[in-house]
Amino acid sequence: MNADPGVSRPEESGLPGLALPVLDDDLAARLQSRLERVERALEGHVVSRAPFVTEAASHLLAAGGKRVRPLLVLLAAECGPTPDSDEVVTAACVVELTHLASLYHDDVMDEAALRRGADSANARWDNHVAILTGDFLFSKSSELTADLGADAVRIQAETFTALVEGQILETLQPGPGQDPLRHYLDVVAGKTGSLIATSARYGAIFGGASGDVQAALTAYGEIVGSAFQLSDDILDIASESDESGKTPGTDLREGVPTLPVLMARASTDPADARLRELLGADLTDDALHAETLTLLRAHPAMDEARAYVVDQAGRAKQLLSALPEGPVRQALEAFADVIAVRST
Ligand code: FPP
Ligand code: MG
Repeated sequence: MNADPGVSRPEESGLPGLALPVLDDDLAARLQSRLERVERALEGHVVSRAPFVTEAASHLLAAGGKRVRPLLVLLAAECGPTPDSDEVVTAACVVELTHLASLYHDDVMDEAALRRGADSANARWDNHVAILTGDFLFSKSSELTADLGADAVRIQAETFTALVEGQILETLQPGPGQDPLRHYLDVVAGKTGSLIATSARYGAIFGGASGDVQAALTAYGEIVGSAFQLSDDILDIASESDESGKTPGTDLREGVPTLPVLMARASTDPADARLRELLGADLTDDALHAETLTLLRAHPAMDEARAYVVDQAGRAKQLLSALPEGPVRQALEAFADVIAVRST
């Protein structure tokens, strides 16, 4: 996202910049400095007494990432009187470590070769290392959550349940009579929306925001979180691997129908007959996969899917009316916009 105008990224320091434009300089500086605290803390949390485990657990952390979830914790915390507390930084580490853990497991399930522009852990080592490193990172996240108290532990456990349910649901077909779009949106809300909603909720709680603001930010996070995955799924089709740091078309190859696919399948245009046929076929074949990717990239379903995500971002922004007007609300609005039209 560093190519976006207004997005700061201090390349020289090797630290992640803010993955969104923040117009207010003071707010941008506060967020940047706390994100650096989070980064230093994360580097410590992935250290194990076994050097090999440290190496494997540092692998994807060091490979990059936008730190979207920690940033949302820090931003939501600005809605209360204690945005600078150690608990806010700890909560930001909890969500990033949980996310990181899920990536190690996800790449095993997807047999993915690339992540964040680097070899996935399963490609670099093997599935066993990747799975156990994911477990290690999730355990580290849980240890940290214990420092935040029983409510935070319960929230993290519920989030983990939703993450895993969403991920399992993705491997299943929609139930009898169930709308495939509804099934897909349930998957997305579970596997991605839940942790992003928890990021906003943790920020609001540990920043000391009122109950109303906590509820508004949690609802905002659920919508923005799902929108983030919908954009990711569009990018899986639209982008090249040098842009995304991942292998394009993974969902198609795995037979996982995502928003553009569901929308293209609904087309009754005879000109789409070949695409519809391909979308019902086994796309592990390289030639069929490439043909499908080309047809889908040029299909109006791509823009239809993008418009749906922009609409969701609009819904999320409406929920922010519970917050006072000002730079923090503006930044949360920008966050929803950036997620809806993300390019990485
Ligand atoms: C990415 O989906 C996957 C997720 C957001 C969730 C994965 C969750 C698990 C594997 C459950 C286990 C969780 C933990 C915490 C150990 P994607 O494949 O569509 O996205 P991608 O394009 O980034 O690969
Ligand atoms: Mg994946």
